[in-house]
Amino acid sequence: MPQSTLITRAQIEKRVAEMGRQISADFAGSELIALCVLKGAVFFCSDLMRQISLDVALDFIQVSSYGNQKYSSGVVTILKEPQLDMRGKAVLIVEDIIDSGLSMREVFRYIESRGASVVKTATFLDKPASRKVDFKAEYVGFSIDPQFVIGYGLDYAERYRNIPEIQVLSD
Ligand code: IMP
Ligand code: MG
Repeated sequence: MPQSTLITRAQIEKRVAEMGRQISADFAGSELIALCVLKGAVFFCSDLMRQISLDVALDFIQVSSYGNQKYSSGVVTILKEPQLDMRGKAVLIVEDIIDSGLSMREVFRYIESRGASVVKTATFLDKPASRKVDFKAEYVGFSIDPQFVIGYGLDYAERYRNIPEIQVLSD
């Protein structure tokens, strides 16, 4: 499968620093939890957190995803629940990519149901043209065309997560 670079390491570094500054300003004074959506967002979340100049706790959630397919089944279940008490806290959901919007809609609802006072979403990538349900993230690294991408945590059948840039995967 041929791959071509879409977003370089330098572009990633610059954009994540900008996002961290913005988030630090917006959440100043609140008790913040970064909620990393496993597994794809691990790389983005660890970079982003180090660009946030506030006290920030870390937790994880995992939802069922594509399996080994390039397209979503549309059914979302929670595989791993967060551990921290979210009541009255500000929760920043940190996601790798929003495609149909189905996963984020479910995660967002679930976190609200755990009593967070503020819930916002930071996604590294967004494919707005692929939405099946309406969902808007407050913080978006890059908006991209509807194409399948890998690297910087994003996989295809569990491969390519360790590629340090974003590449387009074509058949
Ligand atoms: P959604 O529920 O359709 O918005 O899908 C979100 C999830 O699907 C992401 O968290 C990714 O794990 C996966 N995904 C969507 N698009 C891509 C892609 O282009 N490359 C790799 N994973 C993707
Ligand atoms: Mg994935």
